[in-house]
Amino acid sequence: MYIFSISGSPRKGSNTDLLLDEVLKGAADAGAEVEKIYISDLKFAPCIGCMKCRADRVCRLAPDDVNMVAEKLDRADGIVLGAPVYGGHVPGQFKSLCDRLVGQVIKFDFTEGKANITSALTPKDRNGVAIGVCASSMPGMTDAVLEFLKLNLAQHKNNGTIQEINADGMAIPGLVNLEAEKLEKIFGAQGQAVYENAQRLLKQAYQAGKNLVS
Ligand SMILES: Cc1cc2nc3c(=O)[nH]c(=O)nc-3n(C[C@H](O)[C@H](O)[C@H](O)COP(=O)(O)O)c2cc1C
Repeated sequence: MYIFSISGSPRKGSNTDLLLDEVLKGAADAGAEVEKIYISDLKFAPCIGCMKCRADRVCRLAPDDVNMVAEKLDRADGIVLGAPVYGGHVPGQFKSLCDRLVGQVIKFDFTEGKANITSALTPKDRNGVAIGVCASSMPGMTDAVLEFLKLNLAQHKNNGTIQEINADGMAIPGLVNLEAEKLEKIFGAQGQAVYENAQRLLKQAYQAGKNLVS
C-alpha cells in the first residue's frame, strides 16, 4: 500500500510537517510505503483559467511538477493532506497547486445539461487524512481549511474513509513537538495544558496513519 502526502505549509519542520510525519509513521508501522512532498519544493505555473483541460485533461501550460503530483495521486492507495490556516484558508501556493490539479485529476462530463464531476484517477478506495493547523484557539478557525482538504480527498475516495485532525492553538513554530518545560517557560501556567494537547494531537495523528492502512 502506497500512502502519498502533501505538506501545504511553506515552513518545513514545523507543525503541519511534524503532524504529517506522525501520520506517516503510523502508516509505515502498519506496513505502508509512504512519501511526502512539500509545496515549497514544487515548481509550477498558476492556472490561467483557459479551461482547455476540461475537454482532454491536458494542461496547456508547459508540463511541470503538477504532472508529477497527479501521477503520485493516481498511484496512491491513501492520501494525506496537511495545511496551515493563512488568513482563514490554505496558503496561496497550496491553493494554486489544487487549482492546477483540477484539470488533471477531475473528469468533467457536461451531459444532460449538468456539469458532472468525477475523479479521473484510477478507481480505488482511497482512505484519506486531512490536517488543519492554525495559531489561534478561536473555534472554527481551521474549518475552511479542513473542509477544503476533505473535499479534495472525497473526490477520489470511492468507498474509502476520511479522518480529520484539527490542530488549532499552534502559536509558535514546531510547538507540537516541544517539551513540557519549554512550553511552561513560554506559556506559564497554561504550558502543561498546551503540552498535553500537543501530545494528544501526535497520538491522534499516529493512530490516523495506522487507520489509513486498515
Ligand atoms: C500569512 C499567514 C497568515 C496566517 N493566518 C492565520 C489565521 O488566519 N489564523 C490563525 O489562527 N493562524 C494564522 N497563521 C498562523 C499559522 O496558521 C500557524 O503559525 C501555523 O502553525 C503554521 O503552520 P506551520 O507551523 O506548519 O508552518 C498565519 C500565518 C501566516 C504566515
